[in-house]
Amino acid sequence: MRPQNHILITAGPTREPIDPVRFISNRSSGKMGYALAAAAISRGYRVTLISGPTSLTPPQGVHFQRVETAREMYRAVLQAATGAKIVIMAAAVADYEPVRARTQKLKKRGTLTLRLRKTPDILAALGKRKSKAQLLVGFAAQTHGLIAHARQKLVSKNSDFMVANWVGRKNQGFESDDNQVTILDSRGNQISIPRMKKRLLAEKILDVVLGPFPKG
Ligand code: CTP
Repeated sequence: MRPQNHILITAGPTREPIDPVRFISNRSSGKMGYALAAAAISRGYRVTLISGPTSLTPPQGVHFQRVETAREMYRAVLQAATGAKIVIMAAAVADYEPVRARTQKLKKRGTLTLRLRKTPDILAALGKRKSKAQLLVGFAAQTHGLIAHARQKLVSKNSDFMVANWVGRKNQGFESDDNQVTILDSRGNQISIPRMKKRLLAEKILDVVLGPFPKG
């Protein structure tokens, strides 16, 4: 049997618990990551999808792992990444977590101050340990300075591609069925893909990032 290439994809938001009933999260729906997983499966790749909480059904044929927090995603991704030729970090990992999650529900009071600390940066950790053969793809969600910030992230996280997309604009990005992106690579190239359905956009993104990797 021909060895198949393994693609690891992350999707959705993460949830950082404040107490047993409350959490910090973001508006990610997971649609982009799930669309990428479906597109990769239909091309015959072996796909692991590690997802935060979403309302979506995982595409048939993926090896699916559900996680809740950024730390859980960090552990799951670092373990699964060892065997993956390509890692696509489409997840909107929460940037902060409460320093101490309460074990009992917090009583309501006039004001509440939460102490937060940064979550581990999964893509940066992958970038530090990646082999020459591994390809890392990040997503850069921006509300301003799209290209400059995305390029900065591409370099600081030692990634091969950064898919830059606007968030906070009506009908694209988080929660929407459509998106419009610019893909940057580590050789200084950039390609803009016009607004389209995420399922179709997933195909275009795979066309670009899988280019140098013949399957099997
Ligand atoms: N990412 C990650 N771990 C984190 C935060 C982000 O792996 N703790 C990944 C995301 O999955 C994405 C990329 O890093 O592929 C860029 O995420 P983004 O939220 O745009 O950037 P940040 O590094 O969080 O920077 P900032 O919030 O300042 O824009």
